[in-house]
Amino acid sequence: MEKNFKQVENAFRQKLQEVSEMKELEDIKVQFLGKKGELAQFMKQLKELSNEKKAEIGKGVNRLKVLFQEKIDLHREELKQQDYKQRMQKEWIDVTTDPYQTEPGSWHPVSLVQQKLEDSFMAMGFQVLDGPHIETEYYNFEALNIAAHHPARDMQDTFYFEDGHLLRTHTSPIQIRGMEKLTPPLRIVGPGKVFRCERTDASHDSCFHQFEGMMIDKDISVAHLIYFMKTMLGEIFESDVEVRLRPGYFPFVEPGFELDMRCLLCGGKGCKFCKKVGWIELIGCGMVHPNVLKAGRIDPTVYSGFAFGIGMDRLAMMKYDITDIRPLHGGNLSFTRCFAVQ
Ligand code: DAH
Repeated sequence: MEKNFKQVENAFRQKLQEVSEMKELEDIKVQFLGKKGELAQFMKQLKELSNEKKAEIGKGVNRLKVLFQEKIDLHREELKQQDYKQRMQKEWIDVTTDPYQTEPGSWHPVSLVQQKLEDSFMAMGFQVLDGPHIETEYYNFEALNIAAHHPARDMQDTFYFEDGHLLRTHTSPIQIRGMEKLTPPLRIVGPGKVFRCERTDASHDSCFHQFEGMMIDKDISVAHLIYFMKTMLGEIFESDVEVRLRPGYFPFVEPGFELDMRCLLCGGKGCKFCKKVGWIELIGCGMVHPNVLKAGRIDPTVYSGFAFGIGMDRLAMMKYDITDIRPLHGGNLSFTRCFAVQ
């Protein structure tokens, strides 16, 4: 016998040590355990040998067969593990990372105020309605008891289209649309953009945001109006507020009021913020005029109601201490992001 078992075993161990790929491992398997492999060579010689020798060689071959197979299996497992580790490092992904690297968005201060108002009124049984920005003269003025040549139209000059449509000057048309759609008793609010032909300065813009409200039922009085206004302001400013009513003229309410809130900064003593009066003018409101109820096909002898309109930009400016309305509409994200609540 040219080679003895020891030599073959050593050669196998030596080669196995150098194996670093699956393919090489399969080659070694063929070389040592294959049909024409090293161990098969021993078996070829058996015919010429004595029984005793045959048994001895058979035993040795079997021992090596088992040993080689074990070692090859073990090595195969190691290679698999290595390969897995390498792939894990190369193909690792962080599933918590944002693949598009977008910056988180934030709510605009006026949207924050609007959400707060909507939530507060919905909790009190009001429905949130929407209305078109482009209105007819009927919904914006006539149905609201503002006749064609009434001077009140001058106070709300706006942008007209050639076909007679206009950009709505207030959210009050939502009252009419709401009454047409719903039957009393009804509680509605309507937030949205409004437009006026105004010169822009720190407190005026040609586009701003209002929040309209209306409640119609039997026996509604000014006491209901005051209750809802106080609740609304308390929610927005997160504190108890004191309010007062002054007479105010709006053709769609009778009586009509300007509702003021005691200045939260100075407590009414008078400061820069309230222009030394101690009160801040905030809400136009009143008891819905019978002509408006009629325009909404509601019988004024049976039902009464209150209505109000409040400027949301003004509320946002007060809540977030913003002194100029213009950056609110400027589209500058670094400004609006300052009020971020994600
Ligand atoms: N529409 C009025 C404005 O833009 C605000 C207003 C006043 C709304 C009285 C009302 C109201 O609903 O009752 O100046």
